[in-house]
Amino acid sequence: MLEFSLSSAVAADAADTPCAVVGVFEGAMSTDAAAIDAASEGMLTRLLESGDFTGKPGATLVLHGLAGVKAPRVLLVGLGRRDGIDARAFERACGEAGKVLKGLPVARATVWLPQADMKDRDANWRVRTCALAIDHACFRYTATLKPSNGDAPRLKQLELVADADARRGIGEARAIARGVTFARELGCLPPNLCTPTHIAGQAKTIADEHADSVTLEVLERADMEKLGMGALLAVSSGSASPPKLIVLEYKGAGDAKPYGLIGKGVTFDTGGMNLKPTGSMEEMKYDMCGAAGVLGAFLSAVELELPINLVCVVPSVENMPDGSSYRPADVLHTHAGITVEVLNTDAEGRLILCDALSYTCKRFAPQALVDAATLTGACVVALGTHASGLFSADDTLADELLAAGNTSLDRAWRLPLWDDYRNQLESAFADIANVGGKSAGAVTAALFLSRFTEGTRWAHLDVAGTAWVPGRKGYATGRPVPLLVQWLINRST
Ligand code: BES
Ligand code: MN
Ligand code: ZN
Repeated sequence: MLEFSLSSAVAADAADTPCAVVGVFEGAMSTDAAAIDAASEGMLTRLLESGDFTGKPGATLVLHGLAGVKAPRVLLVGLGRRDGIDARAFERACGEAGKVLKGLPVARATVWLPQADMKDRDANWRVRTCALAIDHACFRYTATLKPSNGDAPRLKQLELVADADARRGIGEARAIARGVTFARELGCLPPNLCTPTHIAGQAKTIADEHADSVTLEVLERADMEKLGMGALLAVSSGSASPPKLIVLEYKGAGDAKPYGLIGKGVTFDTGGMNLKPTGSMEEMKYDMCGAAGVLGAFLSAVELELPINLVCVVPSVENMPDGSSYRPADVLHTHAGITVEVLNTDAEGRLILCDALSYTCKRFAPQALVDAATLTGACVVALGTHASGLFSADDTLADELLAAGNTSLDRAWRLPLWDDYRNQLESAFADIANVGGKSAGAVTAALFLSRFTEGTRWAHLDVAGTAWVPGRKGYATGRPVPLLVQWLINRST
């Protein structure tokens, strides 16, 4: 994680920094690029005239040793058309700058990009978005790698230049970066290390660090047996790693009703007896990214000292085939008293979530409850990797979450939760079946969950397509931390 600091408008040509990062529009320089151009007697003018660099969105170019410019390096970043720069293009351009900075041997850089004028996005937003995009690009996974012995300095400090007061933006950036980094590191950790016990240990670290406002309780198998959590326990039954139900509480608002966050924490999803085929299994170490996301969002909210009460509940298990595994055709008795016919042991996420949801509704009566889960491949088919699926019967809550996604650019898209789909979950042997057939798989999964939240304002985020970047070199993304934190910030004011 980078350290962020704010600096008020200093001239880009005169600033004492190892690398000055300035924006260039298509056919026009930013004020800051113009300062460098003037100091260097028209270097940038000549460069733009040559056509080698055009300012097209996201283009980058490093220039060295410009005469008259104090910084030894200038990183030019294309911002596209001056009048038409939109929020996502700005974020992407900052991310491209971040990728270049990650590869440069500098420990500190100064960025003028937040000075770019944009409709509808103030200096706080520009500073925050720029800081987070660069921090995201500079992420390094280290947990299971040998320490690199390269001595080249690495970017540690990022100075953001803003002409207006952007202290709120930088404070939010720090807290969100903390939560996002937490979620990415936990998400990337391999499943032999990232067990339910390890996740509970991470929750303890959060609680210990904020002992004045946070309390932790971890329910063990015996506790869950007493509570009748037959669905959660069934999923865990094939694993040598014991299940955990993690409950974190933050008190920032006396005895107001809390907000609730719940995250799917399947530390590895083999599919169980309905085993996943080769090629579809290894990425299932990321099946705890919902848990990592809500824990990260919880951490951010605590660091921001938001004036709300918040509870974060994480059911965590491993889904394995074994002689003691649950099977297709089993009928399970849930904590809510609803019986479930298992028709596919690979639809395990909804089984651990249903017990966590009904437990949270009953124990905490939250004023609103949001769960995040890498729940269905069907959601990835529907929305790809750009938007999380959002499901809620409550239009106000859905709109709040969509708006939080648009502000943070961690976007969601609403899908239906209509009763019309309900008959797909009918069972001849129990109150409900755990799968709904091949059509509308993301919807029927959400409808299954809805049975366990009746009477509570609830929304479900399916982050199967957004929580990690697929492929050998993909990492966990930290989504939906920014969306959730933005929502809680908005609820606080
Ligand atoms: N964790 C998976 C969902 C998933 C699959 C996320 C691929 C990202 C990429 C979930 O537990 C699962 O296996 N879902 C099944 C449900 C089906 C059996 C109804 C799926 O999506 O195939
Ligand atoms: Mn599964
Ligand atoms: Zn799963």
